[in-house]
Amino acid sequence: MAEDLQITGTTKEEKYISLLPQLHALVEGEKDLTANLANIVAALRQTFGFFWVGFYLVKNNELVLGPFQGPVACTRIGLGKGVCGTSWKNAETIIVDDVEKFPGHIACSSASKSEIVVPIYNTDKKVAAVLDVDEDKYSMFDTTDKLYLEKVAVLVTSLL
Ligand code: SME
Repeated sequence: MAEDLQITGTTKEEKYISLLPQLHALVEGEKDLTANLANIVAALRQTFGFFWVGFYLVKNNELVLGPFQGPVACTRIGLGKGVCGTSWKNAETIIVDDVEKFPGHIACSSASKSEIVVPIYNTDKKVAAVLDVDEDKYSMFDTTDKLYLEKVAVLVTSLL
């Protein structure tokens, strides 16, 4: 059974550093991907209070909504569409300070203002999923989020 999260630190970086080993502990010994992804997004939301955080998984050449926390969201996103589809296509992390300025942004919620999308690779180095985090304020993500969410992505690769 999972223990309660014990997040220490006040800065965002300190919280990520506190959270990461607990994410590893949360998924240790559990083989079910859905269960693990569900707990990872719950832990991220609990730690940072993100507006929306979730996974989209590549299935039949589309991104399909996976475990998430937050308001209801679009279920399918094509290659190159929106921030998620662009992160998948280019196999790179994308930080968007103002989603309305991102060409082709998919507005699942009009409250979403900024976001970061991190690709997750499978063992063949192909993008198998993305981690999408949205905030309802502008410019909420930076290189600290990129650094640590990419570490979360590496953890997820080990679960695939
Ligand atoms: N904003 C995303 C779509 C997914 S939702 O925000 C949850 C995008 O443009 O890729």
